[in-house]
Amino acid sequence: MLRKGGTLRDDIYNIAPLRNIVGESPSIRKIKELILQVADTDLSVVIYGESGVGKELVARALHACSRRSKGPFLKVNCAAIPGDLLESELFGYEKGAFTGADREKPGKFELANGGVIFLDEIGDMPLSLQAKLLQVLQDNEFCRLGGQREIKVDVWIISATNHDLQEDLQDGRFRQDLYYRLNIIKIVVPPLRERREDIPLLIEHFTRIYGQRYNIDNFEIPAELLSLFLNYDWPGNVRELENYIKRLIVLRDFDEVEREIRRLSGEPLPPTSEKGRGIHEDLLQLVIQVLSEAEKGKVSLKEVSKRVSSVVERKVIERVLERTQGNKRQAANILGISYKALLYKLKEFEDLEL
Ligand SMILES: Nc1ncnc2c1ncn2[C@@H]1O[C@H](COP(=O)(O)OP(=O)(O)OP(=O)(O)O)[C@@H](O)[C@H]1O
Ligand SMILES: [Mg+2]
Repeated sequence: MLRKGGTLRDDIYNIAPLRNIVGESPSIRKIKELILQVADTDLSVVIYGESGVGKELVARALHACSRRSKGPFLKVNCAAIPGDLLESELFGYEKGAFTGADREKPGKFELANGGVIFLDEIGDMPLSLQAKLLQVLQDNEFCRLGGQREIKVDVWIISATNHDLQEDLQDGRFRQDLYYRLNIIKIVVPPLRERREDIPLLIEHFTRIYGQRYNIDNFEIPAELLSLFLNYDWPGNVRELENYIKRLIVLRDFDEVEREIRRLSGEPLPPTSEKGRGIHEDLLQLVIQVLSEAEKGKVSLKEVSKRVSSVVERKVIERVLERTQGNKRQAANILGISYKALLYKLKEFEDLEL
C-alpha cells in the first residue's frame, strides 16, 4: 500500500484508515508503519495487547490498507463461542452433519474468501480446533463438517490475543506448529499507561466524535480532572478512556468522575464542596432529610416532589446555562420556559440554597 514516490513516514499521515488510529507516540507510529509494510503481503499477523488497547482497530486498518479492502472483514471471537459451535462457525456444515443441521451453512472461512478473517482471542481456541486450523493454513483448503468436498479459499488470517501465547505454548495450551504459522508478523499494542503522550490526542478525538454525535460543542475537561486522566493507569486502556469521555459529554458529572478516578488510583478523596456536589449527593442528602422529617412528624408529599424536582431542575438549568455560556434568554428558549420564569427559578434556588 506504500505509494510510489512517498516515504513510509509521509504515508502514515496521509492514508485515511491510519488516521483512525489516533496517537503520535513512537510505539503507535511504529505500528502504523508496520501496517503499511505488511498490508499487501498476506503474511499471517498476530496482534498482542491488553484488553481495550485497540487490537481490533489495528486489524481493521490492516484490512483497509490492503488490496483486500473491498473484500470482507469477518471477525470470529474464539473465546465467546463454545468449541464444537466454533468449529461449525469457522468451517460451516453440510445438511445432516449433526442433529439440527437441517440445511447446509457456509462457515466464516468461506464467507471471508478474498478478504480477511479476524480470529479474536485466538489463545482461547480449543486444541482440537487448532489442529484443523493448522491444516487450513497449510493447504488453503478444508471440508465443511459432515462434508467430503475440499473447499479452497483465499483468506488473510489476522489474529489477536491478550494472552502471552508463548506462555500458552509452554503450558501445552497452544500448538507450537500453529504458533509459528500464525505468528509470522507480530504487532504489539502497548497499554495506554506506557504511551501517556497519546492521552490528550485521544481525548480530543473522542470529544470531537461524541460532541458531534450528541450535538455538544463547548465541552472541556476541567484542568484538575485532565491532570488525573494523564496520570491514571487506565487498566481498561483506550476503551475505558473513550467511555469516560462519552459519559462526561452526556452527563458532565466531572466531580463524580474525579472522585471515581481518585478512588481507583488509591488517592485520598478531597472533601466535597457544597457547590461542586453532584446530583447523586444532592438527592441523597434530600432523601435523608425527608426521611428523618417523616420519622419525626408530618411530611407533605407535595412538598417532597417540589424539592426533588428543584434539585433536578437546578442541575438541568445549570447544564443548559453552561451550554449557552450564561445566556439566560437562549437557555430559557431551550428549556421551553419564559425568560421571566427562568429568572424566578434561579432566584428560588438561591433562596432555597439548593
Ligand atoms: N489509537 C486509537 N485511536 C482511536 N480509537 C482507539 C484507539 N485505540 C482504541 N480505540 C478505540 O477503543 C475501543 C477499543 O478498541 P478495540 O476494540 O480495538 O480494542 P481491543 O484491543 O480489541 O480490545 P479487547 O481486547 O477488549 O477486544 C474502540 O472503540 C476503538 O475504536
Ligand atoms: Mg477486541
